[in-house]
Amino acid sequence: MQNEIKDVLLDEDRISNITDRIAKQISADYNGRDLLLVCLLKGSFMFFSDIVRKLSIPCRVDFMQVSSYGSGTASSGKLTVKKDIDEKTENSHILVVDDIVDSGFTFYCIKDYFLNKKQACSVELCAMLDKPDRRRYDVDIKYIGTSVPDEFVVGYGLDYNEKYRNLPFIGILDPKVYETV
Ligand code: IMP
Ligand code: MG
Repeated sequence: MQNEIKDVLLDEDRISNITDRIAKQISADYNGRDLLLVCLLKGSFMFFSDIVRKLSIPCRVDFMQVSSYGSGTASSGKLTVKKDIDEKTENSHILVVDDIVDSGFTFYCIKDYFLNKKQACSVELCAMLDKPDRRRYDVDIKYIGTSVPDEFVVGYGLDYNEKYRNLPFIGILDPKVYETV
């Protein structure tokens, strides 16, 4: 599996420094508020669990799975909720955690969903990775781990065809893996 990784972008130490920093910021910003952290499955499960265990404030956690059709090339995508959260959202401050922001379509739709359909008090976004070159929807991301170049990355939860999620680091997938298919 490792010989299909072209370059390691973020090793375990670097990832740990990033999650330390973000968890500190969240703990300071949400101190005294009813915080509900929402993990977007499956890609953010490692990032989410690292952040949550480093928080110094109380919070609730819940899990959601969505799929965004047309987010790659077509602008008229539609967000489908495959698994919704169970926790109450009214009067809650929601922080949605995802692995990577690409076009921004997922975050754009999720924010609208929690504000307008679920009556959340506030909705903010947190992503481990950002691919700013690919942005097509104007989304304000409150917490970002780091920016990455416009290449396909895997590991630390991120997959290609459900593979590589278990790598403890984030790396660039060798294009030969998907170009030969
Ligand atoms: P967006 O809705 O266009 O912002 O797409 C975000 C989603 O696309 C992420 O949650 C990932 O599931 C997926 N994605 C985008 N770029 C990558 C990548 O380089 N590796 C793995 N998944 C990616
Ligand atoms: Mg995803």
